[in-house]
Amino acid sequence: MRSGWFSMELKSRDIYEILSDLAKRRGLFWPSYEIYGGVAGLYDFGPVGVLIKRNIIEEWLYWLVYSTGLVVEIETPIITPRIVLKASGHEDHFTDPITECTKCGRVFRADHVVEEQTGITVEGYSMSDIWKVMIENNVRCPECGGQLTKPQPALLLFKTEIGPYKGAPGYIRPEAAQGMFVSFKNVFTVVRNKLPLGIAQVGKVGRNEISPRQSLIRLREFTIMEFEFFFDPEKSYEEVMKYMDEELEEEELFVLTADEKSRGIDRASRYRTLELIEEKIVKNPWMALWMAKGNRFLREIGIPGDKIRFEEKLPWERAHYSEQTFDQQVYTRKFGWIEVAGYSYRTTYDLDRHIEFSRSDLSVFKRYKKPVEKLVRRAIPNPIKIRELAKDKMGKIMENISSMDQEALYQELMSKGYIEIDGVKLGREAFIIKEEKVKIHGEKFVPHVVEPSFGLERIFYALLEHALSLEKDRIVLKINPRIAPYQVAVFPLVAGSKPEHRKIVDIARSLYRALLKARIRAFYDEEGSIGRRYARADEIGIPFALTVDYQTLEDETITIRYRDTREQIRISIHEAYDKLLELLNYKGKFKLNFDKYP
Ligand code: GLY
Repeated sequence: MRSGWFSMELKSRDIYEILSDLAKRRGLFWPSYEIYGGVAGLYDFGPVGVLIKRNIIEEWLYWLVYSTGLVVEIETPIITPRIVLKASGHEDHFTDPITECTKCGRVFRADHVVEEQTGITVEGYSMSDIWKVMIENNVRCPECGGQLTKPQPALLLFKTEIGPYKGAPGYIRPEAAQGMFVSFKNVFTVVRNKLPLGIAQVGKVGRNEISPRQSLIRLREFTIMEFEFFFDPEKSYEEVMKYMDEELEEEELFVLTADEKSRGIDRASRYRTLELIEEKIVKNPWMALWMAKGNRFLREIGIPGDKIRFEEKLPWERAHYSEQTFDQQVYTRKFGWIEVAGYSYRTTYDLDRHIEFSRSDLSVFKRYKKPVEKLVRRAIPNPIKIRELAKDKMGKIMENISSMDQEALYQELMSKGYIEIDGVKLGREAFIIKEEKVKIHGEKFVPHVVEPSFGLERIFYALLEHALSLEKDRIVLKINPRIAPYQVAVFPLVAGSKPEHRKIVDIARSLYRALLKARIRAFYDEEGSIGRRYARADEIGIPFALTVDYQTLEDETITIRYRDTREQIRISIHEAYDKLLELLNYKGKFKLNFDKYP
């Protein structure tokens, strides 16, 4: 009776409702501060959710950070002094257009309201242009139908004060990236001045979203996994080719280019990684390499390849720092295509801005293979003449000249016939002009940057949706064993008070403890019928279950059950650990006795 009712109920609810219910019931996630009514855009992760998140991070670290040896990880503060986000451009550009209802006072994201009511996308439009669309289409308050105000930009940074004083404003970081840019020189020195160099970080960021309403898809606080990849653009192609192994070269990606979008095409085409480089779809080859790695990572954790695509952003859809951006999107039944990662070619934008604002030298020295001879022309100040012209300003002027670029000083002197410092004109006669051949061993340059940036909670949501399987009478989270919260469940078949039952429980408990000691993420449960315990384990995606039963007492065998097929085989309890390791380290071809095991 119950199973029939249950399956009917499952069918009548949408995937999102089922997932939200499961998430709360089984400890994946739920709205934060619920007992006080909750706060939009803030979510807690429960005991199971935390484990799944951590496993996704581990997998990301493997595929994106540690698989090439080119990327290192750091940790920098969430609290950021204002100057850093002024320099990065966030204080001026990190805004969304808001509109307020003159009747009910509610505030909305103007571009969202316009899109919902007219179907017109106004991303990147100026405030006046959005307002024009609103007037022409009579866009009204979605809640009460009232008149809306002209859109205004609203800063998405969370503001704070650093220390108990006024005048030391700070922000919660909206991206981890600035920590990597600001620390670039320290890390570069630690890795002994090597490029290319990726600096990665996994951590929380805050964005004061206007009206987040889409569960884990739009959060005010979320986990970013990103790295800034610093390189010499003149060497990109040759260096990328060193890391392009056969697997990566052949990785297939679905890509929708900006050019295709502007021609009205909305279907992504299939490319191999190398084609993205050869057909110049990407503005720098490193973009293609990291996009391929990101594609592989998502496939590896369980998102089907044909449910992943890359959408190139149009110029006005891109962030202020980007020369080219591809959003990596995953198809979800609830929200359609959602962005889970972005790949931006940030060029020298951020380092240049931090050089300008901090006056630090963030350039790097590139040694030539062979020194080159260069004709250097210099204007050397003649102190006698300068004293005559500058009089008591002599010291200051000499100091000024010595901090100037020699070549630039020469050029200015030659083109104008004089240079002017602190109101004093110094003509050619104040300098001795020298031309000399010197050997140049290298040059300084500011590295270019490509940034792959992933939103963990969105990946988490998309992954759950794809893993959720509704079977006749139950929910099964068919999640990759590497991502599963626990790798194995251990059950005693029965847990009564008869001596036999107590023996079964004792064996199961000691097997559980031995697995924990061997660093297996094991889960133990003796409550309720064995069927219910299997069902509970299936719901949170535990791939294998080991069950101690009556036969164990006779021949020291136990059963091992595979979640997705419910198949069981008997193995010796002494082989359990090795068998489990074999199963957990599967690599595509691995089958063992589970025929349907991937
Ligand atoms: N650092 C990437 C972003 O802010 O989206």
